[in-house]
Amino acid sequence: MLDLLITNASLPDGRTGMSVAVQAGRITAVAEGAISDAQAHETVDAGGYLLSPHFIDPHFHMDATLSYGLPRVNESGTLLEGIALWGELKPTLLADAIIERALTYCDWAVAKGLLAIRSHVDTSDPSLLAVDALLEVKRLVAPYIDLQLVAFPQDGVLRSPGGVENLKRALDKGVDVVGGIPHFERTMADGAASVKLLCEIAAERGLLTDMHCDESDDPLSRHIETLAFETQRLGLQGRVNGSHCTSMHSMDNYYVSKLLPLIAGSGVSVIANPLINITLQGRHDTYPKRRGMTRVPELMAAGVNVAFGHDCVMDPWYGMGSGDMLEVAHMGLHVAQMTSQTGIRACFDAVTVNAAKVMHLDHYGLEVGCDASFVLLQARDKIEAIRLRANRLKVWRKGVLLAETPEVQAKLKLAERPAGVRFLV
Ligand code: FE2
Repeated sequence: MLDLLITNASLPDGRTGMSVAVQAGRITAVAEGAISDAQAHETVDAGGYLLSPHFIDPHFHMDATLSYGLPRVNESGTLLEGIALWGELKPTLLADAIIERALTYCDWAVAKGLLAIRSHVDTSDPSLLAVDALLEVKRLVAPYIDLQLVAFPQDGVLRSPGGVENLKRALDKGVDVVGGIPHFERTMADGAASVKLLCEIAAERGLLTDMHCDESDDPLSRHIETLAFETQRLGLQGRVNGSHCTSMHSMDNYYVSKLLPLIAGSGVSVIANPLINITLQGRHDTYPKRRGMTRVPELMAAGVNVAFGHDCVMDPWYGMGSGDMLEVAHMGLHVAQMTSQTGIRACFDAVTVNAAKVMHLDHYGLEVGCDASFVLLQARDKIEAIRLRANRLKVWRKGVLLAETPEVQAKLKLAERPAGVRFLV
């Protein structure tokens, strides 16, 4: 007897009329049509809707989320005012408040089918208050969200006093990934030195690396080059990620033609954060204003694994957001002009399978043996899912139903149409 049988589902690869069988939290069969002799404790008719592996946010800041307006809002909308504002907020932070806000956000995430999040956590404060708070959140949400934490020296690992020690202490406490912010160090040379140092720490400890890298409109901010080089030098291929990489938007095309194969050859993945990059970048421009997002289609064409992150929700940098990775994908395809069908599907992958590769998630997907952690969307395929930012009808993790949202259908209240007039609805 199966625990769960889902019938008549469409899958992200385009197959329709599919059945998915679940036993003990894992997918045991995926078949076209009915699975003969299958009996289950619960059967769900997907009604032709899309069953997708759950959404993944590979770049977030959970220690800052839902703090919008504390102690004031970001008037200029710039990255630098956001960092300054976070600096004002930090001395007033309480662990309980961070935990409460983070747990609220995790509830939103589950409702949106977002079951894996990589969150950076600021390690600049020697008390490591935010680190302790998010480690506690990681423990509390473990039954329903895979929360991976990145030791993130927001004030610069070399620039801030005790930066290296604080970061290492955070890793000692159990933070999973080594972070960095080379473009915020005092000089380009310090930035490059920080990349080298942090990659060496990751190599020594056998950890993954994820740096905020070149989150700037400065075309000469080239720390991604150092990150790719150090990744190769230390044999970290496939274990390192560059986040944001917005300076690539403004770089000289000839230099980028040299850089793309370097990144691809190093196995460094890249995370763009479309909602944030479109609002924070280009703020020093008059007109035309640069978009600032990294070169997503070009990176993908070069063979680089590119994922999209939400980055911020209602914090010093961004006052919008609801944990909806389809909104992220929607913005990503607009900013990157990825409007072909292949491009739109690639944007869906950027918040699912590509992000899973960044996080090194095991048992992710819709194949036999994968975790039965998926979301049933009120959409027929990936393109419709993004177009509608589709309703999450049901969200399961390891075969357990975590969230449901009723199917939504608008009831039109139109007056009778005059003869010969057609409403295009
Ligand atoms: Fe970030």
